[in-house]
Amino acid sequence: MVVLVTGSSGQLGQSLQFIAPNYPQIDFVFCDSKKLDITNLENCNQVFDQYKPNFCINGAAYTAVDKAESEPEKAFAINVNGAKNLAEVSKKFDTILLHISTDFVFDGNRDVTSSAVEMPYTEIDIPNPTGVYGQTKLDGEKAIQEFWDKHYIIRTSWVYSQFGNNFMKTMLRLASERDTISVVNDQIGTPTNAVDLAEVLVKIILTDNRQPTTDNFGIYNFSNEGQCSWYDFAKKIFEINNISINLLPIPTTSFPTPAKRPSFSVLDKSKIKTVFGIEINNWEESLRNQSE
Ligand SMILES: NC(=O)c1ccc[n+]([C@@H]2O[C@H](COP(=O)([O-])OP(=O)(O)OC[C@H]3O[C@@H](n4cnc5c(N)ncnc54)[C@H](OP(=O)(O)O)[C@@H]3O)[C@@H](O)[C@H]2O)c1
Repeated sequence: MVVLVTGSSGQLGQSLQFIAPNYPQIDFVFCDSKKLDITNLENCNQVFDQYKPNFCINGAAYTAVDKAESEPEKAFAINVNGAKNLAEVSKKFDTILLHISTDFVFDGNRDVTSSAVEMPYTEIDIPNPTGVYGQTKLDGEKAIQEFWDKHYIIRTSWVYSQFGNNFMKTMLRLASERDTISVVNDQIGTPTNAVDLAEVLVKIILTDNRQPTTDNFGIYNFSNEGQCSWYDFAKKIFEINNISINLLPIPTTSFPTPAKRPSFSVLDKSKIKTVFGIEINNWEESLRNQSE
C-alpha cells in the first residue's frame, strides 16, 4: 500500500515520518514542497503518476493565520487551489484523499444564542470563519467535496509537536528570554499532539484498506480530549517542563492580532471515535508524553 504525504517537512509531515517505521506494511512517499508543489497541477500529476498512491495525506497548507490577512492570494492558492489540484489528481488515479482542516472554520459564537453551557462543535455545525486562513481552509474543504468523493477531511485544532513552529515551542523559547509572559485566557479550544493526529490518520487508512466502504468518507473532527484556554495550555507547558516563570492571564482585547480568532472552538469527537474505534488521550496526558 502506497501512502503519499504532501508538505512532509511541516509538523504533521514530520510526525508521520516519526511514526512511519512502526508501519512496515505501508510504503510512505514523503514529498516536501520542493518535490511536490500542490499549487502546480502538472507537478501533482507527475508525482501521482510516478508513485500511483492508494492514499494521499495532504499535510501541505498555508498555516500563518495572521499573515494570511495581508496575503490572502497566497493562502488561497495553497489552501484552496492546492486542495482542488489534489482532489483532481486523486480522482484521476483513484487515490483516497485525507485532507486536514481546522477548528478556525468556526466563529466560536454558537453559545451566544443559547443559555446552555458551551457545546463542542460537531461535523454538521455550520462553519463561519472569522479570518482569511479559516475561510481558505473552508473553501479547500468545499473544493475537495466538489471534485472527489473518496475523501476524509479531518478538522483539528491547536496542533503542536517537537517539530516546526507551534505554540508550545514559542512558549519554551519565550521562557528562555523573559521573566514574564502574558497569554490570553478567553479563547477556549483543545491542543492536539501532532503525533496523535498522525496515528489517527494511519488508523483511518488501515481501516479503509481492510474494509473498503464508501460509507465512511466525509468530515471528521479530531483533537485531544478536554478543553483549555491558551493561558491554561501555557501554564501546563511550563509545569511539565519545570519552568518557573511569571505567567499572566490577559483578555484577547489586550493582545490584538490581525486575524480574529474564535473564542470557543472545541471539537466534538464522537463521530471519529465511533466510526474508527479510536480512543483519544486527554490533552494534558499527550503534552506530558510529548515532553518525556
Ligand atoms: N498548526 C495548527 O495549529 C493547526 C491547527 C488546525 C489545523 N491545522 C492544519 O493541519 C495541517 C498541518 O498543519 P501543520 O501545523 O503541520 O503545518 P506546517 O507545520 O505549517 O506545515 C505546512 C507544510 O506545508 C508546506 N507547503 C506550503 N505550501 C506548499 C505547497 N504549495 N506545496 C507543498 N507543500 C507546501 C510547507 O512547506 P514549506 O515549509 O517548504 O513551505 C510546510 O512544510 C494543515 O492543513 C493545517 O491547516 C493546523
